[in-house]
Amino acid sequence: MTDRAANRPTAFFGSTTPPRKPISAPVVGPRLSPAAGVVVDGIDVSLPIPPPVKERLLDAFRRHHVLVFRNQTLNREQQFLFIANFGEVERSRAANKRYGVAHVISNLGGDGKPVDRSASAVSNYNWHTDKPYYREPPMMTALYAVEMPLQGGDTEFANTVMAHSALAPDVQLRIAGLRVAFYWGAGQSRSEEQARADTGIEDAVDHPLVRTHPETGAKALYLGNHASHILGWPIAEGRALLDQLLAHATQPQFVYAHRWRVGDLIMWDNRCLLHRAVANFELSTQRRILHRVVVRGTVPF
Ligand code: OGA
Ligand code: MN
Repeated sequence: MTDRAANRPTAFFGSTTPPRKPISAPVVGPRLSPAAGVVVDGIDVSLPIPPPVKERLLDAFRRHHVLVFRNQTLNREQQFLFIANFGEVERSRAANKRYGVAHVISNLGGDGKPVDRSASAVSNYNWHTDKPYYREPPMMTALYAVEMPLQGGDTEFANTVMAHSALAPDVQLRIAGLRVAFYWGAGQSRSEEQARADTGIEDAVDHPLVRTHPETGAKALYLGNHASHILGWPIAEGRALLDQLLAHATQPQFVYAHRWRVGDLIMWDNRCLLHRAVANFELSTQRRILHRVVVRGTVPF
């Protein structure tokens, strides 16, 4: 730990001292669950990565959808720099930020004390994909575990390619070509009247319900907590279909549950996964703090 910490800054700023860890030989472990996930060993992500390493990581990312790097020591700038290898990092909306270095995801309230907000219909504790209400939703999100409860505080991922292929052919046919309206806070449990009265609905952005992964060509369901309804369908009918498909897509056989350790950096593919935080710890007393970086994607098709 001390060695690593002492070694890193000099290497980071271009010292000729070779890093102790073999940064050019990441080792991709066995699949963590049928749905997704691998641990990538032998790499210190706070150091610059050469192009062949980046290619190996991207290859593993396309195959396994969630990459897990254990025991990393990262400040927010280092996390930003590593993730920027994979695309344009989305800028923070906060005007006082120089650029979008990692922002904080935590269960702390304004007074710095833990607070349980998991029951909110717009919380990350509902199955969702990140920012589907953007024209160009992010392709990747990366979280780094800074502080975790002793047990629990998992993040779950549901593989929406597997979920799509497991649908009956007639259902696949019926949903092909449908478009989903997304807006922030759409929630799925609310009534049709509420949805109609909701001003967010006017700003809804629509995307295909079945999207094609731009790199693998796989077809994936695209839905989740920000999905409002199906374009051209009565709202209630569209919501019923979205609810059914969400229940289907998040069955245990399609899910990888990440059990965090402090020092984990994970990055996942928003184009073929849903995710949610799991309220399996005492949210109102235990601290859970992560740093988050998001990479821009392209228009879903
Ligand atoms: C996110 C998110 C889940 C978690 O950062 O986009 O959904 O487990 N996080 O904190
Ligand atoms: Mn999220």
